[in-house]
Amino acid sequence: RKKVTTRMLRDMKEKGQKIAMITAYDYPSAKLADQAGVDVILVGDSLGMVVLGYDSTIPVTIDDMVHHTKAVTRGTKHAFVVSDLPFLTSHLGTEHALRAAGRLMQEAGAKAVKIEGGEEILHVVRACVAAGIPVMGHLGLTPQSVHQLGGYRVQGRDAETAQRLIRDARLLEEAGAFALVLECVPEELAREITNAITIPTIGIGAGRYCDGQVLVFHDVLQISSEVNPSFVQAFAEAGAVMQEGICRYVQAVKETRFPQEEHVFHLSDEAMATLYG
Ligand code: KIV
Ligand code: NA
Repeated sequence: RKKVTTRMLRDMKEKGQKIAMITAYDYPSAKLADQAGVDVILVGDSLGMVVLGYDSTIPVTIDDMVHHTKAVTRGTKHAFVVSDLPFLTSHLGTEHALRAAGRLMQEAGAKAVKIEGGEEILHVVRACVAAGIPVMGHLGLTPQSVHQLGGYRVQGRDAETAQRLIRDARLLEEAGAFALVLECVPEELAREITNAITIPTIGIGAGRYCDGQVLVFHDVLQISSEVNPSFVQAFAEAGAVMQEGICRYVQAVKETRFPQEEHVFHLSDEAMATLYG
């Protein structure tokens, strides 16, 4: 397998080959995703909720993103690694955004950054692209604006919002974004946006007509216990397997069935003779 590039992703759209993207937050999850043939690994700021236990993505810092992205890139050989710019980063001036994006690429080895938002962040997209930093857009439900949006809800059901999202998608393409995540939008709207732009769209809760799909690692494998939204499909029950494994371990320790002879180290014969002979 070849290393995935932005060029390959665009070619995949042209050829009608679907793009498979998944989040990963550490070395083992990145390795599993990479070896499974995932095209794009996203170090999403969803890590704040999924692996750090926050109740939104807002507390996630650029240091958190750098830390997790480093682990993910160490575990990735083929997939294209994209890392999220965290809350506020693209609203404190282009220099601030460039420094953050620069850290994710230089220190942590990301190949691109993802930025939430439309028209209001175009100048940041342009600055990144001009600096050689590929940008993935993110429209629809943008979780960093959860309090502004009034909750995690479908976006673009009404004509006005739908038209704004189509416009934002075009503007992001013009500004040089190489791909676009569409989160929680009606399927009809995602299809229209997908047809309106030449860069690939990657949907989550955005229906069947996007050029690719993205899901959260722990949702795909059903590792977290929390209830999944309706657009998620679990493809394995890894959480149950993990829980059962730990229960077995605990029981084995308590019932002295672990460790056994094969797990044990012994003194040398000489030491045995000297000490206990
Ligand atoms: O942080 C994340 O996991 C994301 C995806 C859901 C697109 O942004
Ligand atoms: Na995110």
